[in-house]
Amino acid sequence: MNFTEWLPYIQQRTETALQAALPAAALTPNRLHEAMRYAVLGGGKRIRALLAHAAGALTHAAQKQLDFAACAVELIHAYSLIHDDMPCMDDDKLRRGKPTVHVEYDEATALLAGDALQTLAFQVLAEHPVSATAAGQIEIIQTLALAAGSHGMAGGQAIDIAAVGREMTREELELMHLRKTGALIRAAILIGAHAGEGVNETRRRHLDTYAKRIGLLYQVVDDILDAEADTATLGKTAGKDADHGKPTYVSLLGAADARRFAEDLLTEACDALAPLGERAIRLRDLADYIAHRAF
Ligand code: IPE
Ligand code: IPE
Ligand code: MG
Ligand code: MG
Ligand code: MG
Repeated sequence: MNFTEWLPYIQQRTETALQAALPAAALTPNRLHEAMRYAVLGGGKRIRALLAHAAGALTHAAQKQLDFAACAVELIHAYSLIHDDMPCMDDDKLRRGKPTVHVEYDEATALLAGDALQTLAFQVLAEHPVSATAAGQIEIIQTLALAAGSHGMAGGQAIDIAAVGREMTREELELMHLRKTGALIRAAILIGAHAGEGVNETRRRHLDTYAKRIGLLYQVVDDILDAEADTATLGKTAGKDADHGKPTYVSLLGAADARRFAEDLLTEACDALAPLGERAIRLRDLADYIAHRAF
């Protein structure tokens, strides 16, 4: 399967896995379950799922196990987007080309849908083996918990909110981006790799370097797209970082240097894959896709 066939194939597998994991809208409380399904299904690039599958290909992981890993990470991601869009955070009205959850439903439902998606992610990992061993499964759960928590995504979001209207140094900005977006992307890759046969310490180090560069690259490109793309293409309101006084790579470096930095990160990510051999091809293709995506 070439990359352009593989992409929709994994996206469809992920959609099916998410469908199965989510509670039916007919179950009580219906409105909450509807909101959860509204936030998760039928949208999103599923980049974290793709990365988990690509990393799993490196370690000969079974796709069924990778579906659960991909599903758990995408559930955390969807929860983070619901909360990120709420009035107390970025106050956004549009996500994945649709009204945001608090607009379509209400703020309390959005808050609870996010909460419930977060716990559902861990329920999936508690109920379905991704690793061949119980100890491996616990490690996967720990990896996801650390990436989502106050040292990872939630912590990065706290830094983001505190930074509104302030200038940041390059070091501060990198730390914020590595946490708010990089941590979960890195976790997707490490968990995917974990689903297969073990990787030795040297290979793990290379993979982790790739994961960290890709995590940062993802948010740098998000910053660039916010400044340069249009709302219809993005499916979310363009230009909001500048409007809200958010420090970004574009506000710090300017668009041209932010673009150059993204290319440097892409090169570093691909260099880290070089020693990992042929099975890293999907990770390489994804790096290129992430760096050059239009939305
Ligand atoms: C948007 O993530 C928020 C960030 C962490 C940059 P994505 O661009 O992956 O959003 P979807 O899942 O494709 O909608
Ligand atoms: C989002 O960063 C990070 C998380 C959701 C954790 P942004 O606020 O830049 O994401 P968008 O641009 O709203 O998708
Ligand atoms: Mg935000
Ligand atoms: Mg936002
Ligand atoms: Mg953004």
